[in-house]
Amino acid sequence: MHLTRLALTDFRSYTGVDVSLTPGVTIFSGPNGEGKTNLVEAVGYAATLASHRAAQDAPLIRKGADQAIIRAAISTSANDALVEIELNAGRANRVRLNRTPLSRPRDVLGVLRTVLFAPEDLALVKGDPGERRRFLDDLLVAMAPRYAGVRADYDRVLKQRTALLKSAGPKGGPKGNRESREAVTATLDVWDAHLARTGAELLVAREHLVTALRPHVEKSYAAVAGDGRGPAAIDYKRSFESQPPDQGGTGQAGKDEAGTTHGERVRAAEQALKEALLEVRASELDRGVCLAGPHRDELELSVRGLPARGYASHGESWSLALALRLASFDLLRAGREDPVLILDDVFAELDAGRRDRLAALVAEAEQVLVTAAVPEDIPSLLTGAHFRVSAGTLTEVADAP
Ligand SMILES: Nc1ncnc2c1ncn2[C@@H]1O[C@H](COP(=O)(O)OP(=O)(O)OP(=O)(O)O)[C@@H](O)[C@H]1O
Ligand SMILES: [Mg+2]
Repeated sequence: MHLTRLALTDFRSYTGVDVSLTPGVTIFSGPNGEGKTNLVEAVGYAATLASHRAAQDAPLIRKGADQAIIRAAISTSANDALVEIELNAGRANRVRLNRTPLSRPRDVLGVLRTVLFAPEDLALVKGDPGERRRFLDDLLVAMAPRYAGVRADYDRVLKQRTALLKSAGPKGGPKGNRESREAVTATLDVWDAHLARTGAELLVAREHLVTALRPHVEKSYAAVAGDGRGPAAIDYKRSFESQPPDQGGTGQAGKDEAGTTHGERVRAAEQALKEALLEVRASELDRGVCLAGPHRDELELSVRGLPARGYASHGESWSLALALRLASFDLLRAGREDPVLILDDVFAELDAGRRDRLAALVAEAEQVLVTAAVPEDIPSLLTGAHFRVSAGTLTEVADAP
């Protein structure tokens, strides 16, 4: 798939911009702070309904405005689509698909698919486990948009169960606490069941995804870092005791072929999570936090057998982050239309060898949007349309042949 047009109104630093796009490479260059990332951030938002760099929507609305609009026209081999997103300060956002308002904004997920590489990706390797869980969940949703619902259900159940745990009050409190704890216990059984059910679905899907990603990450890491620099490995680690031995470990890719169906794996995980919740209940009540479930799981990354976080060098961490994105791209394009590739300011961070290898890997994608402060940082393999970005305006420039 590719974007044919991107139009922004009061998005970030743009009052209004409207640009026609073509398949192949498009470069956006310009000095720092002129709005290059803002452009591709809008593209990412149209695909995922979230910014890759702001947790809230407020910073996306131009200062002084109370509404931002993103319009993205998408062309696939099957059809054309127009996604329109209205970001509203202080009230719900609205999404239209082909001019029809969607009652559930998340129904737009999957219409535009992107893989965005950005400086923030370093946090995938160096940051908290939450960054890596988000990476997996975002990719799950991009692969199968129905997981947006599973994820939302889980978040809601987790929030409510946590509120219930907190309401029981800390251990050693007044006598009243003991009574409230007893009352809470009965209700907790119900929430444990909800949490285990939605949690199991999410975590088995993540495990399955990690199994599918693994060979691509290994391959991409070797491709970016250069031969003999790896291997890089990824593993999904549950936050609680794994399932019984007859269900196999989480990292055993062969199990599905060996006859364990997806449904069986989910049911086994649900049972295991329910038991784990019972085991930790006392400490959960003491601490007022939910101690088992996919919100505490970890995607473990390693390079040459050492955990990436805390051990990998800066360059190795970068290569691993790139490998995770490239692997996502491989998975998302398999048997389907290419997602739109976005490379925000990534070449400046890489040495010449890594730059050229990365360029070679992405060059054949249907559409690649590249930003750079210094156009010379972009390998010559990536040539195409070129826009100068300056103070909220785009000017197409003809590159010297
Ligand atoms: N909500 C907003 N309203 C107005 N301006 C904003 C808003 N959010 C960000 N900006 C401005 O947008 C600019 C940043 O744009 P952007 O991140 O796209 O820069 P860039 O061209 O990618 O720069 P760099 O090369 O440093 O990455 C900043 O000057 C910032 O003040
Ligand atoms: Mg930028």
